[in-house]
Amino acid sequence: MNDRQENSHSFSLLFVCLGNICRSPSAEIICRAALKRAGIRAVVDSCGTANYHVGSRPDRRMLAALKRAGYAYDGHRARVLLREDGERFDFIIPQDEENEREVRRIISPSARARVLPMRLWFPTGCKRRAVPDPYYGGNQDFDEVVTLLAESMPALVQDLRGRVG
Ligand code: 4NP
Repeated sequence: MNDRQENSHSFSLLFVCLGNICRSPSAEIICRAALKRAGIRAVVDSCGTANYHVGSRPDRRMLAALKRAGYAYDGHRARVLLREDGERFDFIIPQDEENEREVRRIISPSARARVLPMRLWFPTGCKRRAVPDPYYGGNQDFDEVVTLLAESMPALVQDLRGRVG
């Protein structure tokens, strides 16, 4: 993030999954679109709790699902969650329960209050408890990730803006 963004944004958020090649980079892309639509300026980033895919582009199956829904790849390369991310971001948003446990383990205890699970903003009636990991799935699993994130994102954006006042 550059200085201009640092100074003009209203809040910053970090999406976290396991590999940072499927769910969290999608959340990042979909969130940017939702912020733009809502006219809200925020810094958005994503990372993984595991280092398997550091430096990689998102999974090509994930990019294809995003494209089917009208979202374009923004150049993100996978990176791993660092302890200092707990201090750098206002909100840290794990995609599933395992990601949340890892985030809480890696960041400092004082930063744990910034951790909010993605499921908080799932649509009413949604049976899911987490954004399901599509890595070993098929096209419909990647499409489901995009749909769930896209349906949740307007509520996330409004909620986080409200929390920063
Ligand atoms: P993500 O998906 O956590 O949504 O990026 C995965 C990516 C890679 C692996 C598992 C999940 N993996 O086992 O390599």
